[in-house]
Amino acid sequence: MPRIHFVEFGGREHLIDVPAGTSVMQAAIDNHVPGIDGDCGGECACGTCHVYVDPTWLPKTGTRTTSEDELLNFAAATQESSRLACQIRMDDTLDGLRVRMPEGQH
Ligand code: FES
Repeated sequence: MPRIHFVEFGGREHLIDVPAGTSVMQAAIDNHVPGIDGDCGGECACGTCHVYVDPTWLPKTGTRTTSEDELLNFAAATQESSRLACQIRMDDTLDGLRVRMPEGQH
């Protein structure tokens, strides 16, 4: 199973094993990782799953979808590495993925 490193805004880390096919948002919810609410259930409509992808992982996670990009335009503290965690689906190529949560989400 691929693993995800979640890093809370305050620096606390969570290393989670997730079944392939699970979104990064769902992995956080299922494992009670603070800082990701996923209010819309992964429909790319709420922005409460905003994460910063570690720059070394950006080539593997791919780029934002159009609707994801539009939603992130309204998010606070958006960075180049910002993604919506519900739009990143885990597979073995993402084993070890590292994401950080923004300041507003804790
Ligand atoms: S869970 Fe709502 S945008 Fe990701």
